[in-house]
Amino acid sequence: MCGICLLTLTYNIIIYHMRGFLVIGNKATTGPFSLKNIPGAGRMDILCRCISQAIFLSHSIRESMEVYLLLLGNPNPPRVVKIRSDELRGMSPDERSVAGLIRKALKFKAREKWTETNSGVFISKKDLIGLLEELSSFYRIYYMREDGKDLRKLAGKMKNPLFVLGDHLGVKKEDEKVILQFAEDIVSISKLSLMAEQCITIANYELDRAAQ
Ligand SMILES: C[S@@+](CC[C@H](N)C(=O)[O-])C[C@H]1O[C@@H](n2cnc3c(N)ncnc32)[C@H](O)[C@@H]1O
Repeated sequence: MCGICLLTLTYNIIIYHMRGFLVIGNKATTGPFSLKNIPGAGRMDILCRCISQAIFLSHSIRESMEVYLLLLGNPNPPRVVKIRSDELRGMSPDERSVAGLIRKALKFKAREKWTETNSGVFISKKDLIGLLEELSSFYRIYYMREDGKDLRKLAGKMKNPLFVLGDHLGVKKEDEKVILQFAEDIVSISKLSLMAEQCITIANYELDRAAQ
């Protein structure tokens, strides 16, 4: 195979099999916080578990996964932390390790453009509209809500899906309006209201299952 063909094939494999999650941290801190009290940082523990569930397999890391955390708590909202699994180094699945890299990212000056704060970890100063504008140029956006369409029925047809979900406080009405402007569909994994990290685990399971 010629070099250009190989490059194109590699590009297609990488580009066309991405998966993403965006979790809205309604009160998640945008300033310094203590690793001794991660829940006290606006329930940063939930966001850490979301990253862990999205990215880690047993003794390995998922390929082609991105997680975006929209941090809306004081003192400097909004901030977005992005994790790219393919470039990630130095993170383990425990909350303290994940929180440590988020805390490090928050020490950097955030701009509109992404700043890399650790291999595979980035920060920027985007609001929900700005972030979804950027993401929707590549991803197909799906909003996760209990009353949506059954994800299992749609999973096989999804190309580069990015799922948007809330934290323990859910998604505010005004944010939901914004998400619905970008979303292809609302998807559900159960009629029960589940924890955000459980939604991520199950969505990954359904997509993996559909791809087999
Ligand atoms: C802990 S739940 C939010 C609960 C919050 N009390 C509320 O009423 O929205 C966190 C997020 O997970 C997602 N979620 C929870 N259960 C779901 C389900 N069965 N199907 C799809 N998404 C779900 C929603 O995006 C929700 O905002």
